[in-house]
Amino acid sequence: MKIAVVGTGYVGLVTGTCFAEVGIDVTCIDVNVKKIEDLKQGILPIYEPGLEEMVLRNVDKGRLGFSTDLASAIKGCDAAFIAVGTPPGEDGSADLKYVLGVAREIGQHMDDYLVVVTKSTVPVGTAKKVKQAVAEELEKRGSELSFDVASNPEFLKEGAAIDDFLKPDRIVVGVESEQAEEVMRKLYKPFLMNGHPIIFMDVPSAEMTKYAANSMLATKISFMNDIANLCEIMGADVNMVRRGIGSDSRIGNKFIYPGIGYGGSCFPKDVKALIKTAEENGYSMQILKSVESVNENQKEVLFNKVMKQFEGNLTGKTFALWGLSFKPKTDDMREAPSLVIIEKLLAEGANVVAYDPVAIKEAQHMIGENDRVAYAKDEYEALIDADALLVVTEWPEFRSPNFQVMGKLLKNKVIIDGRNIYEAKELQEMGFAYYGIGVQE
Ligand code: UGA
Repeated sequence: MKIAVVGTGYVGLVTGTCFAEVGIDVTCIDVNVKKIEDLKQGILPIYEPGLEEMVLRNVDKGRLGFSTDLASAIKGCDAAFIAVGTPPGEDGSADLKYVLGVAREIGQHMDDYLVVVTKSTVPVGTAKKVKQAVAEELEKRGSELSFDVASNPEFLKEGAAIDDFLKPDRIVVGVESEQAEEVMRKLYKPFLMNGHPIIFMDVPSAEMTKYAANSMLATKISFMNDIANLCEIMGADVNMVRRGIGSDSRIGNKFIYPGIGYGGSCFPKDVKALIKTAEENGYSMQILKSVESVNENQKEVLFNKVMKQFEGNLTGKTFALWGLSFKPKTDDMREAPSLVIIEKLLAEGANVVAYDPVAIKEAQHMIGENDRVAYAKDEYEALIDADALLVVTEWPEFRSPNFQVMGKLLKNKVIIDGRNIYEAKELQEMGFAYYGIGVQE
């Protein structure tokens, strides 16, 4: 089988590479010449564990190619996946200009029956617009070629994307014809070996499934953050409460970890977009609006704890930050809580020394030059003479550090842990002042 994947961002690159991995002939397409030239040499635009090796291996085997030339790449394909960006507009709705631009280009150059698949997260109703765009271009050419659209949302987690793709919990595909269903079933057959299902449904339902999944997960997180904040007030420990409720299989023990708010490119954007879609159609998503506002407040919780500890005076103080990316195993800084924390610390006259295993370059890019923000070469260097350590991202290497050494490097033995990776009691016994989220001081 032969496919084209348009857009070599995070989703497109993982999708194309994983399809190549099972023997499908894949061309990944992008308008960005530099990106394509880099990819041909194995230089990736993002960090994702295991992806670089997989790209190199498949390029080497001749199953994975990169090109800026959609017109040639689309010829003879069974399916074309649209995985270009849908940046949020000012009002929170997704901007479809890239998706529809690609659809038009496909319509201009396809040479046989083709399934045009939306893979980027797009608002409910987008596949219909894609269909119209392709059809219009075919009509302009006077072409009688037939095609189908399909919606195939991705459920990849950054940092675990390859595993998620190769061993999915489920694959959701919205289709309009048996022929399209057949093509999609054949493409995904190699990934269904673990007995997990491919679920076919109508196109709007598939589009909605993606938003419902992300919104439900975001809701779980905001709910737990609310509970954690209340635990602190009421003398309870959210770690206990989490275990207590998570062992009820109806609730489940995943995605109920409180913290400093969800970030990344997906939850914040998708929650906003669904609220917006509802609004445009005369409905108000009450729960999601609260999910969003709880999350905004939660990003400030760590900073508020710093203010309390230092009695509102942070001028000239230095804070060590462990972790910058919105979550471990990625260099993605989009909507990262660290950005809010750093901004607030700087506004109070504090200095920041940050360390992150992979996101420093991205962070420098987003934060810009600032005399009061420095980056350490490792986690211990960041602690030297700092007034407190703030744990911002729960990278595995931060979980079991040498507390003795930390105690000596820090000016004050204060740890404010935004991810609850340490045990309060253990640290207090070692003489640290320790503050977590939803736990007792
Ligand atoms: C999320 C979904 O998990 C994927 O299924 C989906 O495909 C993807 O969005 C997408 O729409 O593309 P991702 O944003 O990569 O994936 O990261 P997650 O692992 O879901 O984490 C999201 C945020 O929630 C992070 O900021 C994380 O720190 C936070 N989180 C997660 C918590 O605060 N508590 C938890 O218990 C779990």
